[in-house]
Amino acid sequence: MARVYNFSAGPSMLPEAVLKEAAAEMLDYQGTGMSVMEMSHRSKAFDNIIKEAEADLRDLMNIPDNYKVLFLQGGASQQFAAVPMNLMKNGVADYIITGQWAKKAYEEAKKYGKANAVASSADKTFSYIPDCSDLPIDEDADYVYICHNNTIYGTTYHKLPNTKGKILVADMSSDILSQPVNVEDYGMIYFGVQKNVGPAGVVVAIIREDLIRDDVMPFTPTMLKYKTQADNDSLYNTPPCYGIYICGKVFKWVKSLGGLEAMKERNEKKAAILYDFLDSSELFKGTVVKEDRSLMNVPFVTGDADLDAKFVKEATAAGFVNLKGHRTVGGMRASIYNAMPMEGVEKLVEFMKKFEEENK
Ligand SMILES: Cc1ncc(COP(=O)(O)O)c(C=O)c1O
Repeated sequence: MARVYNFSAGPSMLPEAVLKEAAAEMLDYQGTGMSVMEMSHRSKAFDNIIKEAEADLRDLMNIPDNYKVLFLQGGASQQFAAVPMNLMKNGVADYIITGQWAKKAYEEAKKYGKANAVASSADKTFSYIPDCSDLPIDEDADYVYICHNNTIYGTTYHKLPNTKGKILVADMSSDILSQPVNVEDYGMIYFGVQKNVGPAGVVVAIIREDLIRDDVMPFTPTMLKYKTQADNDSLYNTPPCYGIYICGKVFKWVKSLGGLEAMKERNEKKAAILYDFLDSSELFKGTVVKEDRSLMNVPFVTGDADLDAKFVKEATAAGFVNLKGHRTVGGMRASIYNAMPMEGVEKLVEFMKKFEEENK
C-alpha cells in the first residue's frame, strides 16, 4: 500500500515511525495484553504514558516549573470560550484579528466580557500581520490574544506584539513544535494537536500557575475551569487516552530528531524549497507578504480558478493530496507540518514545475 503526500491543514500527516510503533502496540501495549484504547485511565500503564508525555513536552519546550501543562478535550475552539471565562478578571481583553480563528476567538470572548479588536488584517484578506508595536492596549485588559500561526491564510508572527505589560495568550495549534518558543513570553499557550502533534481530540494548554484561579466566571462549567484540570493532573474525568498516547510518541519523535532547534532548521529548509519556487515561477504565486510567511501553511494561486482546479485534480492523481485552498481563500494551500518529509516538498515542486511547463 502506498502512502500519499498529504498536504492537509489538519488533521494532517503523522510521522510514519510513530504510526508503525502504534500499530505494533495495538493489540498488546507493553505486555498489558490490551491496547491503550482499552485500558483504564487510572491504570499504572496509562499513568506512565501521560506523565512521560508531559515530561517530554516540558523538556522539548523548556517549560518552566511555574507553568502547568493540561491535556484537555473540546479542540482548540473550546478554548475560545474557556480563555475568557478563566482569564478575564476585569472582564476586558484585547484581540488581534489575523484570520478566521482569531476572529472566532474574539467573537466568542464578546459573550463573556468586553473584547476589543485592537488590530486587524481583514482589509487585505489577512495576507499580512499588522504592525503590533504600539497598539491601543486597554488599561484594564486581562490579556492580549493572538493566533500565532494563521492556518488558513499562511501568515505567522515573526515578532510578538508589544502588549505593554499585559499577558499574552496564544493559539499555536498550527505551529506548535515547529520551532523553539520562549514560554515565559506568554501567560498561556494552547494548541489543538491534530496538525503537528497527534490525532484530533486532544488540546494541550500551557498556563502560568498564577493565572489558574478559583474565582473564574461563576457560570464556568466545571470541565472548562483550568483549576479543575490542574488540581486533577488532567484526570478529572476520562481524558482522550489514545490521543495523549500518540502525542507522547510524537514528542519522543521530535526529541529524536534533535528537538525544536533542529525542527526549525528542517522546517526553514523545507519551506524555502516551496517559497523559492513560488518566487521564481511565472504561473504560481504565493498570496502572503514575504516577511509574514508561515513555515507551516503555504497558500498559492495561479490567478485562474479553472487552472487551480486542474492543478488540484492532477496533483491528487499524482499522489499529492489535500492541496485545495480553504474555501474562503480559493487556490491552493500546502500544509507542510513537521511530519511532511523534505522529499514530499521536493517532489511537489517538481510536479509544479512540470505543470507550469505544460500549461504555459
Ligand atoms: C489556528 C487554529 N485554531 C483553532 C482551530 C480549531 O481547532 P479545533 O477544530 O480543534 O477546534 C484550528 C483548526 O483548524 C486552527 O488552525
